[in-house]
Amino acid sequence: MHFKAIPKAWFLLHFLLPALLNSCATKPVKEAPTAAARGLITAQAMVVSAHPDASRIGTEVLRKGGNAYDAAIATQFALAVAFPEAGNIGGGGFMVARSASGEVATLDFRETAPAKASETMYQDSLGNVVEGLSTRGHLAAGVPGSVDGMVKIHEKFGSLPWAELVQPAVDLARNGVVLTEREARGLNNTKEAFLKNNKHLPYLVREQEWKAGDTLRHPNLARTLERIRDKGREGFYAGETADLIVKEMQRGNGIMTHQDLANYTSVWRKPVIGNYKGYKVISIGPPSSGGVALMQLLKMVEPYDLRKYGWQSTETIQIMTEAERRVYADRATYLGDPDFVHVPVEELLDEDYLKSRMSTMTLAQATPSSEVKAGQVPVFESEETTHFSIVDPAGNAVSITTTINGSYGSYVVVEGAGFLLNNEMDDFSSKPGVPNMYGLVGGKANAIEPNKRMLSAMTPTILEKDGKLFMVVGTPGGSTIITSIFQTILNVLEHDMTMQQAVAAPRFHHQWLPDEIQHTADAIPAPVRAALQSKGYTLRQRGQYGRVDAILVLPDGKLEGGADPRGDDVAAGF
Ligand code: DON
Repeated sequence: MHFKAIPKAWFLLHFLLPALLNSCATKPVKEAPTAAARGLITAQAMVVSAHPDASRIGTEVLRKGGNAYDAAIATQFALAVAFPEAGNIGGGGFMVARSASGEVATLDFRETAPAKASETMYQDSLGNVVEGLSTRGHLAAGVPGSVDGMVKIHEKFGSLPWAELVQPAVDLARNGVVLTEREARGLNNTKEAFLKNNKHLPYLVREQEWKAGDTLRHPNLARTLERIRDKGREGFYAGETADLIVKEMQRGNGIMTHQDLANYTSVWRKPVIGNYKGYKVISIGPPSSGGVALMQLLKMVEPYDLRKYGWQSTETIQIMTEAERRVYADRATYLGDPDFVHVPVEELLDEDYLKSRMSTMTLAQATPSSEVKAGQVPVFESEETTHFSIVDPAGNAVSITTTINGSYGSYVVVEGAGFLLNNEMDDFSSKPGVPNMYGLVGGKANAIEPNKRMLSAMTPTILEKDGKLFMVVGTPGGSTIITSIFQTILNVLEHDMTMQQAVAAPRFHHQWLPDEIQHTADAIPAPVRAALQSKGYTLRQRGQYGRVDAILVLPDGKLEGGADPRGDDVAAGF
């Protein structure tokens, strides 16, 4: 056919439109960071957390000479008062820390299943998972780990007296916290759930609606924190606090006992350490899937030139999505509590294995999740959470993600003790293949067993460049935690964003099942969405998620904070 004879419409459809789509799709979105695009810059020290009072309290500890570990303990207790959605003493979490001299420590203070827990405890007699049983009420709670975790951090690294680190939270609880708009809304929206799950009137509920600027006082929590201040571990896991927890269990259908509390202990774990293009990535190992999954993702995309493809381009989104799909399939099969199941960490991070996983991907079209199963790992011989990042003047860095799982956890407030219990039991797989509240599926490796830790996605992470601290990062977001950290790191390393831009940037997420790219409104430009759909991807727009709080060490040694604008998150420092 002669060129001139090609009808205009045909030409448009077959040449011009794809070319147009493609040029939009691959156009890198790279604006030079302006000063305004940077977060708070400080010369010496910084705390970035989900609440202004917590960031202030952590910074005050640093100002009076406390180290990053001291500040982390004070920040954790302050969040338990000021940010009841996720800050906690009734939950658990993970710490990744790097000392000024480069030593790494990772602490697992994840909750455990009570001794009376069993594999089928959330199923009815027909074997169906009973909705709500693992997410709300007394039976949803795992044995809390946060207080023991803080005690362990203090024993090993603390420099100021313990009581001085707990006292600011006691004062905050007694004097009250001024509610932000977001918190007032959160409490009003959850009033019914609180009333339904408590036999007493919890301190978070009152007759009239909460408004921004109201002061919320926590006298019972102040007393509990005083016991922790004065007796350390015993102030929570024994005596009056333990009695109040066990009594609360008896008021509902709970199974946690004095013995469970007495037996709880947090554990120093081996970190997951890897390398991405010369950056050393230090993250958390099992029972969180975060570190393993993050390293898998980074290694899987490392051979591709994401910088050339550009941020928000079709190719970049495809490559990251295909890696995510494969990694979450592995997670569902292999990851669990290493004290109960063998987790093949080395094998999952083996470079040849990861290359072979990506060998089935093509830029021509999506790989349906139905065709992706967990890989055959080589045999070698032999789902509200909150995150805070801290750097002190000496250069010690602490990255802690802590949670009661859902927003306000199980909604159960321990009567007389003034704190919320977690609903972390839902992070177990209640039944193989049945999704939890984050849509995650799992099997044997993450089945419920007495005293076992439920699998987590929390990913507190620290990056080093040339042997020096480079970034401290983490976020809440259930199943999306891993991919939010993945994107934040790539935003800085590949797309030249400032810390604040990287944290604020819109996000997308794929977790193998359901087979869809979840994205926020502005995460994928319309032409790229069309290009992805034409390649067989299903896209689903969702609300904002994740609140990444991070610190970047700038070339001149100053610190840049990235505080997520999706929350009330604040960077503070000096
Ligand atoms: O450990 C986990 O993976 C979940 N319990 C985290 C929950 C979470 O991030 C909720 N926040 N939005």
